[in-house]
Amino acid sequence: MGVGVLSASALWVGSYQRRMPVSLDRMYENALDWAHLPFLHQRSFASIELIEAGNWGWRAGLVSAKNAEQAEAFIIELRLDRAHRRWISSTLEGPGAGSEIWTHVFEYGSRDIAIQADFFVPGVPLDQKARVGAGYQKLYQGLYDEDEAMMLGRQAALDQKAAKTPLVSEALDLGPVEAVLPLLPFDFDFNDQRWRLVKDRGEFIVYSLTCPHQLGSFVDKALIDGTITCPWHGYQFDVRSGHCLSGHACKLPAPPSVVVRGESLYAMQAG
Ligand code: FES
Ligand SMILES: [Fe+2]
Repeated sequence: MGVGVLSASALWVGSYQRRMPVSLDRMYENALDWAHLPFLHQRSFASIELIEAGNWGWRAGLVSAKNAEQAEAFIIELRLDRAHRRWISSTLEGPGAGSEIWTHVFEYGSRDIAIQADFFVPGVPLDQKARVGAGYQKLYQGLYDEDEAMMLGRQAALDQKAAKTPLVSEALDLGPVEAVLPLLPFDFDFNDQRWRLVKDRGEFIVYSLTCPHQLGSFVDKALIDGTITCPWHGYQFDVRSGHCLSGHACKLPAPPSVVVRGESLYAMQAG
């Protein structure tokens, strides 16, 4: 089914509206970002397998995040229609095949948009319309709570990157050794980046708290077996080597070294 042609049998069951302090660019980026679904929205989706993606949108197989017996598999297609500032998500196969969600976006300012999602579902008896519509509204409220937080986090990280000064300090006093070590894991800013000092398997390690993929934050993620997992797209990194264990080309930046000088711990520019 092409953009702009709605299945005749699908019934409009309800809408969801939301105003958000984000740009149109962030919103389009989010709509095209199929890979975040089972990670950022892990309460709703268990896995995704991409079939095709491009500037036009994407098509993928998705499995819902229910227990194994109830999990449902779908093929979803999202088509972005920039000319009309909207995207249409269609369920091509699986439960609810023929459903479409039309999302229009309204731009009030450079970082001020509103979206309206309209839900069209085939085969819904009229007396079930309100119940089905309320289910979609609840689902969208949860998804957009997560999406808005991600878009705001990414924008803040991009703004910080753009404002970065070329000045590089050679050393930063982190405080007296006796005061810092009981505070581990200890987070600090050094040369415009956020770092975490931890003791892992008897070894002091410093690693970046910003994901090199799209600047997701590791602040709320625990280090497990020397590995950190990004909450946005699930990339995993070995904090010692910086390598991406999920097979992507990006790598954690080289951390500063942390040394003891007199009574204090210092972060020192590496190299
Ligand atoms: S921002 Fe995409 S995996 Fe971290
Ligand atoms: Fe999302």
